[in-house]
Amino acid sequence: MTAPEIHRTIDELRAALRPARQVGDRIAMVPTMGALHEGHLSLVERARVEADRVVVSIFVNPTQFAPHEDFDAYPRDEDKDLKLLGAFDVEAAFIPSVREMYPQGFATGVTVGGPSEGLESAFRPHFFDGVALVVTKLLLAAMPDVAIFGEKDYQQLCVVRRMARDLNIPTEIIGAPTVREPDGLAMSSRNVYLSPEERRTAASLPEILREAVERIVGGEDTHDVLPISRQRLEARGFKVDYLELRDGDTLGPVTDDTRSRRILVAAWLGKTRLIDNMAV
Ligand code: PAJ
Repeated sequence: MTAPEIHRTIDELRAALRPARQVGDRIAMVPTMGALHEGHLSLVERARVEADRVVVSIFVNPTQFAPHEDFDAYPRDEDKDLKLLGAFDVEAAFIPSVREMYPQGFATGVTVGGPSEGLESAFRPHFFDGVALVVTKLLLAAMPDVAIFGEKDYQQLCVVRRMARDLNIPTEIIGAPTVREPDGLAMSSRNVYLSPEERRTAASLPEILREAVERIVGGEDTHDVLPISRQRLEARGFKVDYLELRDGDTLGPVTDDTRSRRILVAAWLGKTRLIDNMAV
């Protein structure tokens, strides 16, 4: 167990990674917003396998939150996060301030089309501009050989992949499977917002998703299956933002060329918004 070295500026991070790069070490990055849980830590484990040096960034990125969203309330616990990273032998934690990432006069944006269209964007129109901007900045700061993202945020993973390709960012983007609680709920920093009763109900989201997958795989028509799943979610008290079957590579509509399919869902339980997805 080694405590990670903390870097709070881009210059410090670059200086710390320079020697590793000079001796040819592979560098992996895991971007996070902190409040780390086993889902994040599974990405760290994957990063360990992929590279000699692991950098985890912890930055609650204001540009991906709309004014009415939970930026201020978002859980933050740097000491706990650092202890967890220490237990996973992470060498470097990049923990910049908002000012460091977005200094006075900041005026640049990154917009990705394609996979960012629809789904989350229909309900959080600023979200992927904010994610694309901060991930670009994080990748340019660390210049990692690989960066690991969770399938939990499947559309985000597709957007980051598209962006890295389109901008020729020399980082391989790796997707890692969703880590779930024993009852199936996908782990999320936002699960702490759920009341005990909502937390019990939340497990029916993956359950209903899993059932939809099984019925579609079993040959039932998506147009029959998804409305039933939506009704079942609503009957349990969810307010569904979207529940859709998409092409798993492009996130466009399923076509004859589709090689993989994915069901993606976002739904509210009280004041908490949950997202999940499963391969079909
Ligand atoms: P955050 O929600 O902290 O998630 C950081 C990374 O952990 C993302 O790649 C996310 O997909 C992954 N992750 C979250 N829960 C997971 C789970 N249960 N299983 C597997 N992976 C999981 O996503 C963000 O932060 C931000 O948008 C970020 C990419 C850091 C840009 O600000």
